[in-house]
Order: sequence, then C-alpha cells, then structure tokens
Amino acid sequence: MTKPMPDNGTMMKTYSSNNPRKVSQSASKSESIPKPLYKLIIVSSILLVIVLTAFEFRYVVFEYLSLLHIVKLDLNPKHGNGGWREPDEATLQLYDTGICNIDRVNAVDLTLDIFESTYRHRKPVIVTFPNGAEDWINPGKWTVESLKTEYGDRWVLSGNAREIVRRGGSGYVETTFEEYLNDLLNESDQIGEPFYVFDRDFYNNSYLPDSLKPPPYFKIQDGVDDSIFFLGSSGSGVSFHKHADAWNGVIFGRKKWFLYTPESVYHGTVNLGDTIAIGIQKKEAVTEVEKIFYTERKLVESMRGLKEDEKKKAQENQLKLLKSLLHFIPENAEVHMRIGELYSELNDFVQAENHLNKARQLDKFFLIATLNLASVKQKMVDPHAAESLYRECMHATSKLWDVYAQYGDFLLAQGRPKEAAEIYRKGIELEPNSLAFWHHLRYAHEVSGNLEDARETQKIIDEMKLVEITYDIDS
Ligand SMILES: *[C@@H]1O[C@H](CO)[C@@H](O)[C@H](O)[C@H]1NC(C)=O
Ligand SMILES: *[C@@H]1O[C@H](CO)[C@@H](O)[C@H](O)[C@H]1NC(C)=O
Repeated sequence: MTKPMPDNGTMMKTYSSNNPRKVSQSASKSESIPKPLYKLIIVSSILLVIVLTAFEFRYVVFEYLSLLHIVKLDLNPKHGNGGWREPDEATLQLYDTGICNIDRVNAVDLTLDIFESTYRHRKPVIVTFPNGAEDWINPGKWTVESLKTEYGDRWVLSGNAREIVRRGGSGYVETTFEEYLNDLLNESDQIGEPFYVFDRDFYNNSYLPDSLKPPPYFKIQDGVDDSIFFLGSSGSGVSFHKHADAWNGVIFGRKKWFLYTPESVYHGTVNLGDTIAIGIQKKEAVTEVEKIFYTERKLVESMRGLKEDEKKKAQENQLKLLKSLLHFIPENAEVHMRIGELYSELNDFVQAENHLNKARQLDKFFLIATLNLASVKQKMVDPHAAESLYRECMHATSKLWDVYAQYGDFLLAQGRPKEAAEIYRKGIELEPNSLAFWHHLRYAHEVSGNLEDARETQKIIDEMKLVEITYDIDS
C-alpha cells in the first residue's frame, strides 16, 4: 500500500501498528559490534529543532513566551465545520487561553503599504476576514467530503511534532489521504501524539491552488514560494523552529501559536480540533541573519560524505558563519548550541563547554544543549559529570529517544551493559522500529553474558528485517 520513500540521508521511520507501512528498507550494517551511531541529528535546511515539543512546553508557557496567540473559530460562516471535528473539553482546558499579544488586523484595513512597512520581516500579525475563509479561499474544496472524493488515493506524509521538525519540516509516515482520514487522523503514535499531515507536495500537485485568492501582501510566486499542506486533530502540531518569511492560512479549525525571542521568531503550533491549513513559505531567506542561517544549513548538508580534510575545511567555514551570527544575535541560544556542537566535533572541548553552557544559561529548557554537553563531558573523560547531565535530560522528558540512545551508549562505554540494556529498552518503547536500538540492545545483552536475551533480541531483529518496517539511523 505504500510507496518507498527516497533516502534523503536522514533517519527514516515508520510507526508500529497491526498493519505496518513499509517506509524504507534498511541495510543492516551492524551485525557485529555496533559503533556508537546515535549522534544527535539536527537536520536539514529549513526548520530547526529548538527545545521540547509544544506538548511539554505548555508547562512553561507563562514564564517563557513573550508572544502567544490563538486563531479563533468562525472561519467559515457558510460551510460550518466542513465535517471536521471541534476540540473537546479536555483540549480546550489544556490549550485555550485568551492571552494574545499579537497585532490583529482586519483585512479590510490592511493595505499592501501598511503590510510592507509595518509587518513584513518586522513582526507577526493575525489577519482576520469579515466573511471568514470565504474571503481568501473556496472552503467548499477543503471539506472532509470534497477532499476525500478528489484526493482519497493521493499520498500524504504525516508525523509527530518533533520528528517533523527534525526532518527539516516534513512528515515521514506515508499513507494515502483516505487512509490518513480513516485511521491516522484519529490515532496517536508511541509518544501519544496524533499524526500531523505536514506535506510539501500534496497541495501544489492538486487543484487546490485554484481555490486560493490571497490578498496582495500574501501573493504567491512560482519558484519563489513553497507550499505546505497541514491537517491534524487536537493536540497535533509542530515543535519550535523558524524559517524564512511565511504565512499560514487556517481554513477549518483552530491553531494555537507559541512564539518567542525577538531575535528570530521561533514558533511552535498546536491544533485545537481537526484543523486544516495551508502554509506559503519563501524558499530563500531575505533578512541578513536568516540568510546566514540558511547558508550554514546548506553547508552542513553539503558536508555529508566529504573526506576528512575536505570536511575539516568546511567545518572551519561553518564556524565562521556561526560566529558571524553571534555578531548580530549574541544572545541566541541556538547559535551557541551549534557552535558548541561544532567545537566538540573539532575536539576543542573547552570552547565546546563554554558555548553549550551559555546556551543552557540562555534557555534552561534547551535539552539538546544539555545532551551535547553530556557528550562533551564524556569526551573529556568526566563520566561523573556526563552521567548527571544524561540523568537531567531523562528527568526533563521521557519522550526524546536521543537521550536513551546516547545514555545507553555511555553506559555501554562505562562497562555497565546491564543498565545500558534497560535504557535501550526505553528507547525502543519510543522507537520500536529502529533497528539500531535493537542491535544495541542485543549487543548489551551479549556483553553482560545474558545470551538468552541476546538470542531473543536477534530473533526480533530477523523478523523485523523480513517485514521491512525498519529503518537505520545513519547520518
Ligand atoms: C476517534 O476516536 C474516538 C475515541 O477514541 C471516537 O469516539 C471517535 O468516534 C473516533 N472518530 C473517528 C472519526 O473515527
Ligand atoms: C509549485 O510548483 C512549481 C513547479 O515546481 C514551483 O515553481 C512553485 O514554486 C510551487 N508553488 C508552490 C506555492 O508551492
């Protein structure tokens, strides 16, 4: 039922169910001793992982966010809810607040001039329309029935908040649109998140663009703009990221936005009730700062597969780019995190530690900085400090598989294979189709002399390979 996905060099995954969908075929390289292959993967060009998912983030909302808004219902007076479901009480309790300090402008009052001089590249804005979505799109083409009839057999990509962002802004579970509507829209993955359609092809390869008539300031240009089709039930969304100039139009449903830092508008969203929307995003950055971010990401992508000496040179360029960012935004936690990560790769642990600590100081919820620091401490042969940082990460969240991967590897390296096995098991709960976790688990069993469990684990690996629902973490 499923098309194989192209290997874009990052991690692929599928999700577990009685009817597993084949996503990518894994070449199982690590038959013998698995090398420490879990490296925290921060990904490609456009979107960047920043902190925890929106779901965990709610605990710190009021302390932390400078900006926050909700797009309200009443989007479609004529079409009602289009067959999409309203949020339930529990969801509203969790996410519905009246707090919003973003400008809200009626489209009738918003001219191109005002938009260009007040908002573009300056600050976020919510544009409301007197007749709802009717004023800028044909909502009749976006109801459950209409989409199912027209596009039921088309492919869509969906996924959870963090993994979508990790993949540079793309879903990774591929199903037909009808399958998605019938099953996934109402299902949750291993970490309890609903699947969110985040697809960069679906919309542009459909007749839906004909239904769109945006105001002049949201004009779409071929070759300049990308489009993203969004659909998800209550609680689906994407975690923090940022990108070039973009707008997001909600057709049915309600979307809560979390925005923070004046330095770059990082944002995450959560859907309240079934929510369907279209995103239009510039392919290239325009502001100076964002241009450097994009250049740096492209450089990192081009580094894959380079020889050592070439890579070294590229890394030196990367360091220059990142440092030039500090010139514009000296207090940006992400930039410090990246510099720290890079210094760690370049084996300059003192500098790595400084920058990672700075990132943590700027953003105490920046788990990835903590995880990177743990790995630096490990390289500095300070296992005590490393372990306490790993434990800090585990304490902060039980939903980030990277923590179990790295902590498990650490325990293995410390000669504590039994504990490593326990930690890998936790990782497997989050990522049951990851061959890498299973290989590491088997190895941990072997080393601890637990041959029976090692054999059992090997059996599972063999079965997984047969049904081809596995993937390898390999970057
Ligand atoms: C979704 O699941 C809920 C409870 O699990 C159920 O009440 C509801 O009918 C389901 N909706 C659809 C469209 O399957
Ligand atoms: C649609 O696809 C065309 C052709 O690939 C591309 O030039 C254009 O930028 C795309 N538009 C959107 C809005 O995605």
